[in-house]
Amino acid sequence: MGNSAGDTDRSEKQLDVVGFGNALVDVLSHQNDEFLKRINVEKGAMHLIDSERSAELYSLITERKTVSGGSAANTVIGVGSLGGSAGYIGRVADDDLGDIFVKDMADLKIFHNTPRAPRRDSTGRCLIFVTPDGERTLNTFLGASNGLTTSDVDLGLVQRAKILFLEGYLWDLPRAKQAMEAAASAARSNTKVTLTLSDSFCVDRHRDSFLNLISDHVDVLLANDHEILSLFETENLNLAIQRAKSIVSLVSVTRGPAGSVIASNSELVSIESAKVCEVVDKTGAGDLYAAGLLYGLAQGYSLERCGKLGAIAAGEVISHMGPRPETNLRQLAGELA
Ligand SMILES: Nc1ncnc2c1ncn2[C@@H]1O[C@H](COP(=O)(O)OP(=O)(O)OP(=O)(O)O)[C@@H](O)[C@H]1O
Ligand SMILES: [Mg+2]
Repeated sequence: MGNSAGDTDRSEKQLDVVGFGNALVDVLSHQNDEFLKRINVEKGAMHLIDSERSAELYSLITERKTVSGGSAANTVIGVGSLGGSAGYIGRVADDDLGDIFVKDMADLKIFHNTPRAPRRDSTGRCLIFVTPDGERTLNTFLGASNGLTTSDVDLGLVQRAKILFLEGYLWDLPRAKQAMEAAASAARSNTKVTLTLSDSFCVDRHRDSFLNLISDHVDVLLANDHEILSLFETENLNLAIQRAKSIVSLVSVTRGPAGSVIASNSELVSIESAKVCEVVDKTGAGDLYAAGLLYGLAQGYSLERCGKLGAIAAGEVISHMGPRPETNLRQLAGELA
């Protein structure tokens, strides 16, 4: 639903999905519920923290797994694993973690050219505590992501996207919020502008301005059930989906093990979740579901096929520790991909 802005290099190849989000390095560790109580965090939520708190929590961790990510980055990496082409907009610093992030994206063939913050800033990180039930609790120090402004956004890259994928977490940051609006405005008329609501507490903080963004710019809305119920301040999921349908052309709502629902003006499709032997770590479930769905939409697949791809990708990522696919998703999805 973008404007038909015309100042891009048309010789550049189209990309299936361009993601825009907080660029973070994830530090994952197993912890029990007692630990969460001790450090006084709400299980399952995303907490924004400062660098001191980040250092304090980091010092409590003994065993850890470090992997570059952030929600929209996980999604575009999933799109790549499905065989799609992808780009990413997100700001890291000129430090060691930033080097790892930039190298990872290059190795995975995700186009990423956002200017890096100077060395005095540090790359953002997310300390992720995974409890024995597979639930993840996020503690995010935004670091260099916090300074992202409109001038960091390559609008030419936005204009190469079949799908522009915006991460709702960015809405917490006034400058990034403006940058997101600029990206959405610059998207071409045939680009599907997609927003994930990211977190129900984030929706709660910004309900009215999210609704404005969605009405003005968004074609495809992704959410889990808590987030969409919060957006429309209702307990009735059908009602929330109806309300969403009145302002976007496609809405997808995930419901954990109960699967997902995708609704357009003409269709309502229910998708079962994949059978997973053991949910080891839920981190990335929503991100990888989005990867499957968006990859499918970019190929012009039916809604059912798109949703099934989402379920397969999400099922893979929750069966091991960490937010990235560890199996080639294209092979795993077989004929569906
Ligand atoms: N226990 C589970 N078993 C199988 N699939 C699951 C399970 N939990 C989640 N999924 C898959 O992941 C998708 C997204 O899950 P969910 O609705 O929990 O998203 P989310 O809350 O955004 O997740 P997160 O933010 O933790 O990544 C579901 O639609 C489903 O396909
Ligand atoms: Mg989510």
